[in-house]
Amino acid sequence: MRRPLVAGNWKMNGSREMTKALVTGIAADLPSQCGTDVVVCPPYVYLDMCRELVGEGEISVGGQDLDVHEPGAFTGEIAADMLLDVGCRYVIVGHSERRSLYAETDQRVGQKVSAASAKGLIPIVCVGETREEREDGVTAEVVRRQLGVVIETAGINIFPKALVAYEPVWAIGTGLTASESQAQEVHALIRAQLSDASEQAAAGTRVLYGGSVKPDNAAGLFSQPDIDGGLIGGASLKAADFLGIIKAATS
Ligand code: PGA
Repeated sequence: MRRPLVAGNWKMNGSREMTKALVTGIAADLPSQCGTDVVVCPPYVYLDMCRELVGEGEISVGGQDLDVHEPGAFTGEIAADMLLDVGCRYVIVGHSERRSLYAETDQRVGQKVSAASAKGLIPIVCVGETREEREDGVTAEVVRRQLGVVIETAGINIFPKALVAYEPVWAIGTGLTASESQAQEVHALIRAQLSDASEQAAAGTRVLYGGSVKPDNAAGLFSQPDIDGGLIGGASLKAADFLGIIKAATS
């Protein structure tokens, strides 16, 4: 049995005040031993504060990105060691906003996943097609290429510890969600690709769905056999919504 995981990607949102209210709000109503791994990924500047707020509780903290290099002359960047230093366990890598707005290539994503895993951070590797790619019927090809480069660069042995997040770009922040069967279809392809390289990786890797997940559509998505939780954007910024999604993953 794969333990579900729900991660909140706050993106470039938050303040000290909001971080405090949101994290304490989630922690206050999170059932103890809730059966789902819970991760919050705030902007870098609030990681330390988040880590202090969650203490030894059930919530883990993750970064939204990292640089591939060891610490040094890379202005504006954050190294894996720094994420570890402030208590991160996870890091999101290759989010579609990084790929499209900051020109991250498949190769660069592979290097980042490699750098994170080598340091013991757990990467949440994002893959997914754009609307045009879906309309052109190349979804499977795109996802296969993105994940293929990661497996080639970082090695299959990073799985099952590493996670994959399938996030159709057309569903991110748009209110459009992939249907349960559309999502399951791609999740099954991802698991089949892992299985070509390692049965153990295929059986154990948690594959999350992301893209307009809300409390009212989460249960249906999470009930699919190859969907093991979610990477949540907008709905992770409200404690009640995020808790509702965690509850859907747990039941
Ligand atoms: P969304 O974002 O839930 O706001 O669609 C998901 C994501 O970008 O990870």
